[in-house]
Amino acid sequence: MPLLSPSILAADFACLLEEILKVEKAGADMLHIDVMDGHFVPNLSFGIPVIQSIVGKTSLPFDVHLMVDNPDAYVNELARLGVYNITVHAESCIHMDRLLNRIKSAGIKASVALNPSTPLTVLDYTLALCDMVLIMTVNPGFGGQKLIPYTLEKVRDLKVLKEKRGLEFLIQVDGGIDIQNVRKVIDAGADVIVAGTCVFKSENVEKTVYMLKGGV
Ligand code: DX5
Ligand code: ZN
Repeated sequence: MPLLSPSILAADFACLLEEILKVEKAGADMLHIDVMDGHFVPNLSFGIPVIQSIVGKTSLPFDVHLMVDNPDAYVNELARLGVYNITVHAESCIHMDRLLNRIKSAGIKASVALNPSTPLTVLDYTLALCDMVLIMTVNPGFGGQKLIPYTLEKVRDLKVLKEKRGLEFLIQVDGGIDIQNVRKVIDAGADVIVAGTCVFKSENVEKTVYMLKGGV
């Protein structure tokens, strides 16, 4: 059974805490927090002050996805807030080895995200340092997009690579995942499902969470 990390990007920010407590109660495993800087991706979301405002108000671990030009600059503050995981994009990491080690030495899980067009080979030498690899199933920047089918091939390839190398990292997928396509995504090898629109715009969040976690 995969884990579910609902993305608060699709939540109603006017009542963010209520929205979070709703998915927590429905059985979510983590909380996916999309930080966008308007440079690395063509959209701006929120940053440290918003994350800080929800610290201590939910028991869900914070799964922070940094879509920013300079991920290095956020690590200290996120460590201070006690987040569970930090995912950085390979495309904006000049010193990926250094950054992953820095995150890990702060006692935080360290993960790498790949845009749809980025090959898995970028992780050839750092895969063993990753607690999780996030395969983007859409181009990052916006919620509510359609899943790009070839990204599932990438999930399958990553799963083969993981087994071949005997590694333990989790495979996370993010973007355009809904009740209709989640089975395909799980079958391809995803361990952690991120979903924004499908969860927060659902009329029956409990049922949606159950189904996204592989229930039928
Ligand atoms: C996209 C973000 C996603 C987004 C997913 O750049 O990384 O986490 O919120 O939203 P949906 O599930 O609506 O595609
Ligand atoms: Zn995300």
